[in-house]
Parts: sequence; structure tokens; C-alpha cells
Amino acid sequence: MTKPYVYVTRKLPEDTLKELSKAADVECWPYEDRAVDRETLLKKAEKADGLLTMLSEQIDKELLDRAPNLKICANMAVGYDNVDLQEADKRGVVISNTPDVLTEATADLAFALLMASARRLTEASEYIKRDEWREWAPFLLAGTEVHGKTLGIIGMGRIGAAVAGRAKGFNMRVLYHNRSRREHVEKETGASYAEKAELLETADFVCVTAPLTPETKGMIGSEEFKKMKDSAHLINISRGPVIQEEALIKALQTKQIAGAGLDVFDREPIRSDHPLLQFKEVTALPHIGSATVQTRRDMMQLAAANIHGVLTGRGAETPVGS
Ligand code: DGY
Repeated sequence: MTKPYVYVTRKLPEDTLKELSKAADVECWPYEDRAVDRETLLKKAEKADGLLTMLSEQIDKELLDRAPNLKICANMAVGYDNVDLQEADKRGVVISNTPDVLTEATADLAFALLMASARRLTEASEYIKRDEWREWAPFLLAGTEVHGKTLGIIGMGRIGAAVAGRAKGFNMRVLYHNRSRREHVEKETGASYAEKAELLETADFVCVTAPLTPETKGMIGSEEFKKMKDSAHLINISRGPVIQEEALIKALQTKQIAGAGLDVFDREPIRSDHPLLQFKEVTALPHIGSATVQTRRDMMQLAAANIHGVLTGRGAETPVGS
């Protein structure tokens, strides 16, 4: 009996794929740091029973049309805005993501960005590297307090809740806005539900953790920036398009907000001439929310387990929508 065929869109460590290789013939795109080109992916999809994909690939109608044998596409990310769920559903293709395993690492990074933005860490590090440090001064690179301030979290899923947990340690007041109340998170973290307008008007730090969906796309635009305090910092660890980038640039130009910590952008990767990088008030990172070695390995492992589960009839551990 021939084994099912699985195509993996990055070079992954062999031990990650060991288990999967028992149940399938596994082929990997040979590069770790370069995304598979579309033509290759379409070609490989034609015979694939399973695909292990990254957020850099579009799993859309065209691809699904070309993949008659496809049973599962395991996206190695918690977000799956790169996948057309409806088209997958029509064809009975299971889509899985990698929740939970990346929650803590991503929440750590949200807090790191918050701290970096508040305390001007990137600016300070660049200052010393440029050899500009001549003497100590009382207000040299003075930032803003974090302790005791109000954090507004937009999107209270697993990552939002983990960010709220960290805020507790900083004695912050936490407000959150979400599609629905999350009473157990309120109990655990002391966070309180707020309407979006109230959160924006009150928060010293607005942290976006909501996934990118048709409902959240562009949910922070010029009207929202107008509501924010001019001393507030915006932190985005979700997806770039949740924020209207032009409006963010304007808000920074007109000093409607004090700063932004951004791990994600509208169109990634951005280049060094991107308008947002021209602001000293912007701390920018190249989409590394979940990038610890351990977490990335766990994500790979979970994606592989999802494919293994579907191909051996057990089902996926973390199908989307479960
Ligand atoms: C995700 O998982 O969606 C992150 O953005 C990448 O780790």
C-alpha cells in the first residue's frame, strides 16, 4: 500500500518529522529561511494528502482546486487568516492551527514590546551603540511608567488572558474588549470588560491580541486614535491589517499617541524605508511573537501531530473551529 504524501513548506528538523514519516512520505521545501514559491507549492499540492504550511502561504481556492487528494492542511501558527476556511470546508479539508503551545511566548513578547515602548529601550540601545552617551542626565531617555497604569487588551483569547496575567504582576489595571465577556479570565486576572470606546479613552497601553478576521480588519483607525490618550502606547502582536496603517502613521505624526510597539505589519516583510520605521517612537520587530526555539519546535510538533492524526483516522488535535 502506498503511503500518503505530505508536503512541508519549510525545512523542519528531522526529529520533528520522525513520527509523521512513519505514516506518510514527507517532502520538505529545502530552505528554513525562505518561503516556498507559489508555483512549487501548487505543483506539490496536486498530489498532497497533507500540507504543513506557514503563515507566509496562501491556502486559497486556486490551491485547493489543484489539490484533489488533500485531507488536511496544518498551519503552523495560531492565526489562520492565510487560509480560506470556506473553500476548505466545501472540500472537506481539515484545517488545523497551533493554539496553546505559543500562548506564553507570545504574551511574553507583547509585554516585552510594551516595556520597550514605555521605557524607550530600542532608542536607548541605539543611542549607546552610536556612541552618543557622554554623561548621565536626569531626563536622558526618560520614558513612562508601566507599574500602576491601565492596560487595555483588545481581544481576550488565550494570548490576551496571558498578557492580562502578566499585567497583574505590574499592578496594572486591566480593561479588555472582546466579542463576549470572559468571566473566568476576569476572575483569574482581575481584568474588567469595557466597551471599545471606553477602553481606548482610558488605557495607557492598548494591546491588540484579536485575530485577523473580516470583523477585526481595520478595527483601529483614525476614529479610534482620536479617542486614545496622547500619552498612550499601542502594542500590536496580532496581524498588521487589524490596524489601519495609514491612520497609525498619521496618529504618530500628529502626536495623537505617544508610541507604538509593533510585531506585525500590513504587508510583511517591511523594508527599512517603511514610514513607520522613521519614528523614534516606534519599536518594530519582524513578526517574532512566538519565536522561541522551544515554542517553534512545539508548534512544528503539533502541526505534524495534526497531520498524523488525520491521516491515521484519529482526527486532528487542534482543528480550527473546534
Ligand atoms: C501565529 O502563530 O499566528 C503567529 O503570528 C506566528 O507565530
